[in-house]
Amino acid sequence: MDILEAIFGRRSIRKFKKSTIPYRVLFDIFEAGVSAPRAGNVPSTWMVLVESDKLKTKLKDACVDQDWIENAPVIIAVCSNPKRLTQLYGARGEIYAIQNSSAIIQNILIAAQEYGLQGTWVGAFSESEVRKVLSKKPGKMDKVNVHALVALGKPDEHPKKLPEIQATDLVYYEAWGESNKSSKMIPLASNPKLQNTIRRAKQRSKKTRHKLIKKIGKTIKHFK
Ligand SMILES: Cc1cc2nc3c(=O)[nH]c(=O)nc-3n(C[C@H](O)[C@H](O)[C@H](O)COP(=O)(O)O)c2cc1C
Repeated sequence: MDILEAIFGRRSIRKFKKSTIPYRVLFDIFEAGVSAPRAGNVPSTWMVLVESDKLKTKLKDACVDQDWIENAPVIIAVCSNPKRLTQLYGARGEIYAIQNSSAIIQNILIAAQEYGLQGTWVGAFSESEVRKVLSKKPGKMDKVNVHALVALGKPDEHPKKLPEIQATDLVYYEAWGESNKSSKMIPLASNPKLQNTIRRAKQRSKKTRHKLIKKIGKTIKHFK
């Protein structure tokens, strides 16, 4: 899959098909995750793969109003121990730890699409509750930060189009708040290659939706 197509085709999915994800696929995705850049090349992020119904339900209870999460085939808890980073870099080590995890999460979400999967980056949960759920012994995760839960699976929904936010809205030129030049330099409307890639990415997710509708045999309201 084209890299830009995967980037533009990524969407947060909160309704999944029941199908399980083979470990071969999961571990390809983990490898893609951990090949993200990391500060000082120091590992600080560890992940816990959760697929049992019992633990998924407990994680759901630790989330704020997100019952859908327990129906994801897998949940990946992205956790960090910033000890070595803070030894090396002081207070910035804490920031690097968050950045390291974020880079891994984004790689996971992008790579998952190679296997027809999508995921959602979940940040709204009680960290202490998640620690309790994932610790075999009380206190085992006391020094560990839980950065995110990533729910992953085969999509069973076609999410609504989001209000467009374009790079020209978010890129300043040479000084904070100076956007005049960037809006002339990088307008999406005059970049046919990028527009084409975005169109292909959207087309691909539509095809998946149409295949599903065909399989089920009728148009279901929420696919429209
Ligand atoms: C740090 C972070 C925390 C998020 N937390 C949640 C969450 O708790 N629940 C959820 O459903 N989506 C969560 N999201 C996903 C965003 O809602 C989603 O990315 C955004 O609405 C844009 O939609 P898209 O991912 O389909 O482009 C989170 C995303 C990020 C980056």
